[in-house]
Amino acid sequence: MIEFANRQGSDCYKWDSAEAQGTLPLWVADMDFKAAPPILRALQKRLDHGVFGYNIVPDRYYEAVSNWFSRRHGWQGIGRRNSIPTIGVVPALSAVLKARTMALREKGDGRPLKVMTFTPAYNCFFSSIRNMEAELTACPLTEKDRHYEIDFEACERQIEGVDVLLLCNPHNPTGRVWTRDELLLLAGMCDSYGTYVISDEIHCELTLPGHPYTPYATVADDSDWYCVLTSASKAFNIAGLQCANIFTADRREYERIDRAINIHEVCDLNPFDVEATIAAYNECGEWIDELNGVIAQNRRLLERMTAEQMPQLRLTDQEGTYLAWTDIRRTGIDADTFCRRLAAEEKVLLNASGMYSCEGFVRINLATSAEILTEALTRLARFVQSLNI
Ligand SMILES: Cc1ncc(COP(=O)(O)O)c(C=O)c1O
Repeated sequence: MIEFANRQGSDCYKWDSAEAQGTLPLWVADMDFKAAPPILRALQKRLDHGVFGYNIVPDRYYEAVSNWFSRRHGWQGIGRRNSIPTIGVVPALSAVLKARTMALREKGDGRPLKVMTFTPAYNCFFSSIRNMEAELTACPLTEKDRHYEIDFEACERQIEGVDVLLLCNPHNPTGRVWTRDELLLLAGMCDSYGTYVISDEIHCELTLPGHPYTPYATVADDSDWYCVLTSASKAFNIAGLQCANIFTADRREYERIDRAINIHEVCDLNPFDVEATIAAYNECGEWIDELNGVIAQNRRLLERMTAEQMPQLRLTDQEGTYLAWTDIRRTGIDADTFCRRLAAEEKVLLNASGMYSCEGFVRINLATSAEILTEALTRLARFVQSLNI
């Protein structure tokens, strides 16, 4: 059963940060639900052991990851030889960008690595690219009838000379779950231009009915020129434990990424994240199905309340994630001002779209109880009505 937890007073970023005090926070992307009982039991068992010295990553870990992706998503072949565990998807991403830069330097090429991503994009993509001293090429997604799409023509115009395509599959913040056909087109294009693909698949378990997730690895065909970043953290609400996995089929790339992970000193998992991940992947399939049902219900609640009380807002199609990407342009105020005023006047926190490199949208986190969501949306509606548009 999906169990709501009051997180206030637990040093929780989402609820206890200075700006979140006294608000209903629908911002930071984690959930107000307890981890699944098998995860709690596994953690308790590890805790009861009472010793927390340095640990290894056991075969059970790779087996759990491998079995889950093969059973649930038809992706075969994950194992110790092609997986590099690390402490988070963003550290993983930075390490892979570092590895790609190292490869340039090996060839005597001193220029910055060129990285393309689709915008709007998850904000840490920008910081990671910047921190790795890489150069960003932004390829805007197109929006038609509330539906986001990849502009393949624009992508092809821009991709020449790009070293890395950084993909988010499914996509935060728009909530698109890329179809197999879309990914096949992308993979074909990257193959013909020799572009390395990094696919961040942290949201892969969070899909709404009719929108199955396609692992990039299953469309890449026989190219090894990609890596996939996964983690149980987002879907099982264990992000604070810090665990992620880099899948890379290319042997030389494996060695470079492994070196980069070690240079960044982010190579050691702790015993709790290992146990939580194993329990999640071995025992929590039904829990995820139920969670996706709760998110679908919350999405319907948002749709109903938007239609009835704040038709000035336009919801874009949500196919996955628990994040609702919402067009506020008809209110006539910019997203930063909208969010600042909403926080001040109604004590509700949303994310303004500027951080994702886009104007006129807000991101609403639906992963909370129906009661909290109803109250937060009631306040949001009151705020929108007060704008008199
Ligand atoms: C697309 C994406 N990647 C990565 C992360 C964060 O990953 P981690 O906490 O494992 O670094 C998030 C968190 O919201 C995300 O949305």
